[in-house]
Amino acid sequence: MAKMTTQQLQSMKADGIKISMTTAYDYPTARLVDKAGIEIILVGDSLMMTVLGDDSTVACTMEQMIHHIRPVVLGAPNPLIVGDMPFGSYNVSTEQAIANATRLMKEGRCDVIKLEGGREVAHIVAAIVAAGIPVMGHIGLTPQTVSKLGGFKVQGRGEAAARALVDDALALEAAGVWGIVLECMPENVGKAITEQTALPTIGIGGGRYCDGQVLVFHDMMGIFDRFTPTFVKQYLNLGPDIVEAFEAFRSEVRSGVFPEARHVFGAISESEVD
Ligand code: KIV
Repeated sequence: MAKMTTQQLQSMKADGIKISMTTAYDYPTARLVDKAGIEIILVGDSLMMTVLGDDSTVACTMEQMIHHIRPVVLGAPNPLIVGDMPFGSYNVSTEQAIANATRLMKEGRCDVIKLEGGREVAHIVAAIVAAGIPVMGHIGLTPQTVSKLGGFKVQGRGEAAARALVDDALALEAAGVWGIVLECMPENVGKAITEQTALPTIGIGGGRYCDGQVLVFHDMMGIFDRFTPTFVKQYLNLGPDIVEAFEAFRSEVRSGVFPEARHVFGAISESEVD
């Protein structure tokens, strides 16, 4: 395999080849994703919920993102690595946005950055792209502004709301994003955006017509049991298996079954112990 590029992903759209993307927040997971040949890894600010136990992504910091992006980059040389810009790290000014995007690239070493929002962030996207940093867009349900949206719910219902999402996608394309995440919207809205832009669209609850799909690692592997959104397909249900393994370990420690002779180091002479 060779390093995935944004240009190759755009060619995949042109050739009708579907793109897969998942999240990873650490080195061992990144290695597994790389081995599976997945094209894009997102080091998402969803780490606040899936790994750090928070209720939302809002409190995520630049330091936390850099801390998690770096091991993913080390573990996965082949996929394109997308680093999420945390809430508040790109809305103060274009200077602030460029400075923080640059930090993710230089300190985290991701390949591209992602930020949430439509027309209202188009000027920020344009400034970051002009600074030489590839940007991925993210519209529909944007978790960083979940309070403003009134909860984790489907966006783009109704003609005006659907039109607004298409306009957001077109504005981001004009601003220079290379691709876009479509989260939680009616399938025909995802289809319209996919057809009306040259951008690879990566859906998460964005429907079957998107150019690719993204699932959060912990959701698809059955490790995150606080809630399971409708759009999630669980490919494994690891949670119960892991609990069973911990229970077996605890019971064997208590009964003395573990460790066995093969887990201990050879004895030294009694005199050396004294
Ligand atoms: O942070 C994240 O995992 C995301 C996905 C929901 C696309 O932005």
